[in-house]
Amino acid sequence: MFSKLLALIFMSLSLGNFSWHAASKEVSLGGNLFLVNRAYTLDSTYVPQDLIKPDVLLTNEDITMRREAAQALKELFDAAKIEQGMTLHAISGYRSYYTQKAIFNRKLNSVGSVARAQKYVAPAGTSEHQLGLAMDIGTPKKSGLTSSFGETVEGQWVAKNAHRFGYIIRYKEGWEEITGYNYEPWHIRYVGKEHAQKIFEQDIPLEYYVEQLIKDKLQSNPDLYEVLSE
Ligand code: DAL
Ligand code: ZN
Repeated sequence: MFSKLLALIFMSLSLGNFSWHAASKEVSLGGNLFLVNRAYTLDSTYVPQDLIKPDVLLTNEDITMRREAAQALKELFDAAKIEQGMTLHAISGYRSYYTQKAIFNRKLNSVGSVARAQKYVAPAGTSEHQLGLAMDIGTPKKSGLTSSFGETVEGQWVAKNAHRFGYIIRYKEGWEEITGYNYEPWHIRYVGKEHAQKIFEQDIPLEYYVEQLIKDKLQSNPDLYEVLSE
């Protein structure tokens, strides 16, 4: 039963537009808390409707992301500058299903197997970049997307402060078994301030956080069990 609910909720999440009104108007993970990974995927036609160019330093002029995430990114980059005198720049934001597919194929050609490629790049339909809520970031001094970004003062400041602006470090060191990806200190994911604060404090992967939230919703709303057993 529980797994059925999880499956249904994750299915809804994977459509990028969660609501549970059919079962109960009280159950909503809400806001920007969408889970996209290899198990919960996006359709090839999914394109967010409010993509904009963030008003931050960009490595190319085609970079976009969803409006709320873009505004929060600007706040994050401005704070890095004002509080620390640091310059951050945005490297890769929204990617269509087909762009993601091309990036994955390029990685596949360079590493030689799907298993190895998908530790670095999400197969098409499984990337948060398609959600328009993820941004790869760096500094003009160190623009490459490598784990050494996590050792820079900028990377360390981002890891400690991104949550104040609604972002989390999605693929932390030590979480590879859960997230499926190598450590990516440069990949920040917008979930909104409230969730980001809690995820930061609990220091858990998004997968665990969402699962815990669903369990809490079930506990506070036992009617859902009945809805699902019908
Ligand atoms: N590198 C991340 C996992 C992506 O391709 O979405
Ligand atoms: Zn990324």
